Amino acid sequence: MSILKIIEYKNPILREKSKEVSKVSKKIKNLIADMLETMYQAQGVGLAAPQVGYSLRIFVLDVSDPEGPIDPMVFVNPKIVKKSGAINSYEGCLSFPKAYTNVRRYKNVLVKALDINGRPFVKEALDGSLLSRCIQHEFDHLEGNLFIDHCRNRFDANNALAKYNLPSIEEERLIEEDFLEKEIVEYEKAHPEEVEELRKTIEEQGG
Ligand code: NI
Repeated sequence: MSILKIIEYKNPILREKSKEVSKVSKKIKNLIADMLETMYQAQGVGLAAPQVGYSLRIFVLDVSDPEGPIDPMVFVNPKIVKKSGAINSYEGCLSFPKAYTNVRRYKNVLVKALDINGRPFVKEALDGSLLSRCIQHEFDHLEGNLFIDHCRNRFDANNALAKYNLPSIEEERLIEEDFLEKEIVEYEKAHPEEVEELRKTIEEQGG
């Protein structure tokens, strides 16, 4: 196994649409093992193949408690077959070291994929859980989309990027999500204490 180099924002490979994996071969299994090792070493929650230079429809993640035992999950040729609800998600990405911003995500997703042995499985992730948000974030990478394309506030996103010397957002890549934004705003109006809590956490992190 080996640690792979993580590609950073503005490398054009991050904007490519990845190709389906035709067979979960020995070579693919080795790549997955390297991706997991690379993700753990970088202390990331998820990693997609394009981020290590392979334009293939594969991502890995581990949303378990960092203090507890590891729980690696592998998704090959994933398809999001159902999505519903809307939430605010404060996200970063290993390809954008240290930069975090608020983005729009669906609350619930149902995903179909192949596991590391090429067997199909179905996974449901609900209630805006870390798993749900992570699946959407990693799936995006396979489409050439990035978390900043879902940013709720361009000014905040650009500030976060500039702070860590990363290039600004690509306006033409922003994804139209008025329906999600509307639902999030309504939720936030009804739960001001949660908004305040997130604001405090962000401040403490120096975000
Ligand atoms: Ni990412």
